[in-house]
Amino acid sequence: MIKENPKDLVPIFFNNTFNSYDRIVNYTTFGKDSFWKHKILEQLSTEKTVLDLACGTGILTKQIAEKLPYAEITGVDITKNYLEKAKEKLISFQKISFVNQDAEKLNLGKKFDCITASYLPKYCISDILIKNCIDHLNEGGKIILHDFTYPKNKFIQKLWNFYFKVLFLAGFFIPNWKQVFVDLPKLIRTTNWVIEYEDTMKKCGLKTYTQDLTYGSSTIIVGTKII
Ligand SMILES: C[S@@+](CC[C@H](N)C(=O)[O-])C[C@H]1O[C@@H](n2cnc3c(N)ncnc32)[C@H](O)[C@@H]1O
Repeated sequence: MIKENPKDLVPIFFNNTFNSYDRIVNYTTFGKDSFWKHKILEQLSTEKTVLDLACGTGILTKQIAEKLPYAEITGVDITKNYLEKAKEKLISFQKISFVNQDAEKLNLGKKFDCITASYLPKYCISDILIKNCIDHLNEGGKIILHDFTYPKNKFIQKLWNFYFKVLFLAGFFIPNWKQVFVDLPKLIRTTNWVIEYEDTMKKCGLKTYTQDLTYGSSTIIVGTKII
């Protein structure tokens, strides 16, 4: 059942899935997760400080560190198990530090040139998350949000719905992921995260740029804090 607040799904989805997350996200998106993260990385160039919100097991955090080897990177996540996995995987990256915090109560006491968040927006309230990001963003800095979206094209919707039925059946063989494959499609169908975050960013004076990816099955919004 979809709870009223999408945030209630976070412990249900993430408390027991940290060990298999990297494999599952790669297989279930047919490798598109790498392509989407590549599109996020295209937005980065000379940033010296980057905050990766909802860093999870550190997939994107690692790619940012590889693209910007001189940058100081901070990964934040609300789920301790995911954060521990990220720490273990990225132990050799000395310029990455990790903090266990809720992005909606973010308080790091410093500012960044860029803030990324992949698969976080749909769990959060746009007004709260964007305000917190702006408080942690340097002038001229960018917020890059990425998440799943429900395709607008009717034919693609049919394929998308069929695919989630297949994943639902697959869930019987991967018990830790069963509830994710039940609730995630409902959440993606009902979320309005793109419109809500675009509106909030514009209201807060950010310059926005939105890019639909892979037949509208995921979207990136970039908001720039104008100097
Ligand atoms: C699907 S994982 C994505 C991890 C990573 N960004 C990636 O792209 O591989 C979603 C992550 O969001 C985290 N998360 C959800 N709500 C959060 C919040 N309010 N604050 C911080 N992290 C949150 C979860 O703990 C989980 O690790």
